[in-house]
Amino acid sequence: MKVINTLALGAGLAGLLLSTAHAEGLQGKVIGFSQIGSESGWRAAETSVTKQVAAERGVDLKFADAQQKQENQIKAIRGFIAQGVDAILVAPVVATGWEEVLTEAKEANIPVVLLDRGIEGPEDLYLTSVASDQVKEGRVAGEWLVGTVGDQTCNIVELQGTVGSSPAINRKQGFEEAIAGHANLSIIRSQTGDFTRSKGKEVMEGFLKAEGGGANICAVYAHNDDMAVGAIQAIKDAGLKPGSDILVVSIDAVPDIFSAMVAGEANATVELTPNMAGPAFDALQAYWDTGAEPEKFIITESKLYTPADDPQGEYDRRKGLGY
Ligand code: AHR
Repeated sequence: MKVINTLALGAGLAGLLLSTAHAEGLQGKVIGFSQIGSESGWRAAETSVTKQVAAERGVDLKFADAQQKQENQIKAIRGFIAQGVDAILVAPVVATGWEEVLTEAKEANIPVVLLDRGIEGPEDLYLTSVASDQVKEGRVAGEWLVGTVGDQTCNIVELQGTVGSSPAINRKQGFEEAIAGHANLSIIRSQTGDFTRSKGKEVMEGFLKAEGGGANICAVYAHNDDMAVGAIQAIKDAGLKPGSDILVVSIDAVPDIFSAMVAGEANATVELTPNMAGPAFDALQAYWDTGAEPEKFIITESKLYTPADDPQGEYDRRKGLGY
């Protein structure tokens, strides 16, 4: 397992893009990218950064938007195999159900790289996986809340990501691990908001109604920032102050969550870099250059940000990155 820092956001988009040496290495390669869809600001940034990094390196990127459906991803992967692409990038919407199509890619000798989400199944079906440690992301969020509330009783409501997706499974697990052993903290309600702003808002409205208009809720833990932003709106609509009446902690570090921090309406986020493509292309290039298999898991950083971390500056540094 290799842990890397792909952020380099201080240098703007230029910091995400890569050297001329890299650009030459992939010149003329045809790479298919099966993207999940556009459910979140983070996803939009990942798409945008992937296209830009591909262009920078001379890759002919074949992009397919699956509109949140695994069947569309499987169809796209089969299309890439039929076209004889040099490699395939996949951001798998859910964790199961990939064996058959990835076996077809393997039999066609096309290396597959998983981006930002994991799968259940034999590891030899993909060359490498570039993703964060999603259990750690949940743990970082949970530890922040444990440290923030101290001895106070804290009833938490949880907005889960897409059912069956690796980040929803793992971020839940990590958060639960962090609050375990702290009897004053408990998750009183948990439901999927499918990683979208609109569903995050809708589910939070239900939580607020069911919990005395919100009086019984101390914190919302959202598996991504978009759902947190939706929840913030629901809390405001209910006449409460997000960030103080109800604490808000989430994952991604998109510009909108930093705006919410500037307004005092969000309390913490864990960064997920949108630059999964850079390390994926590095791994493919090294594989083609030397024949050496890369590390099976390339892990990106999971840094905590709070209002103490210059949220206006963080917003400014990210806003041009395609979120
Ligand atoms: O797989 C990464 C997750 O997918 C991001 O946290 C979320 O915003 C996206 O939809």
